[in-house]
Amino acid sequence: MPVAYFQRYRMRYDLWQGLPDLTQAPENYRFGRWNPKLLHHHAEVKFRSFRNELDANVFPCLGDADGCLRLMKEISSRQGFVPQATWLVQYHNPQTGNIENCGTVQGLRSQKDVGAIQNIGIVAGHRGHGLGAQLMNHCLHGFQEAGVRFVTLEVTSHNTGAVRLYQRIGFRVLKTVFKSVEIDYG
Ligand SMILES: CC(C)(COP(=O)(O)OP(=O)(O)OC[C@H]1O[C@@H](n2cnc3c(N)ncnc32)[C@H](O)[C@@H]1OP(=O)(O)O)[C@@H](O)C(=O)NCCC(=O)NCCS
Repeated sequence: MPVAYFQRYRMRYDLWQGLPDLTQAPENYRFGRWNPKLLHHHAEVKFRSFRNELDANVFPCLGDADGCLRLMKEISSRQGFVPQATWLVQYHNPQTGNIENCGTVQGLRSQKDVGAIQNIGIVAGHRGHGLGAQLMNHCLHGFQEAGVRFVTLEVTSHNTGAVRLYQRIGFRVLKTVFKSVEIDYG
């Protein structure tokens, strides 16, 4: 099968450089801490955030609802899972009274003082209001609570909006890596 290579940046934030205070969420939005009962909500919002995006080519499970559920189960059952760094964003629709899930992020501890951010996503219709930046800030505060010093993430270099967001927050590129993906044209 043909193979494609995606260039990715490994980025890092040093929590000892400090963190902005948590600010109030935009009107009608809420940030909720991890609770095992929310596993399906995280999986569903992960799927809706990633299904039409570049990273669904890099990690095909992100473009598939069952794949996202399997991934969420796998992440949340890992020994290094960091519940404090795992958040769900919900929108309380004032017109319908419904609650819609619209953002997710999860945290893992990869070494004693190193945390790794997993799959931050905001559903397309809710982007550009600062939710991604606030969700990252909640996640970083959660890692701080858990006693981590360095927080890392990996981002596909062509995902320029996400790269800009991380740089603005204060993440710096540590190194460039390449992820090989088998392309199935069938
Ligand atoms: C990356 C992602 C999480 C960003 O979410 P977001 O909620 O749009 O992020 P923000 O609103 O905080 O910032 C995005 C832009 O909105 C702008 N913005 C920030 N606060 C704003 C506000 N209050 N009002 C309007 N715009 C705002 C920012 O300046 C930024 O602009 P830029 O593109 O010029 O840098 C989202 O695009 C996403 O889910 N993408 C698909 C999944 C993905 O690729 N995830 C990253 C994997 S590594």
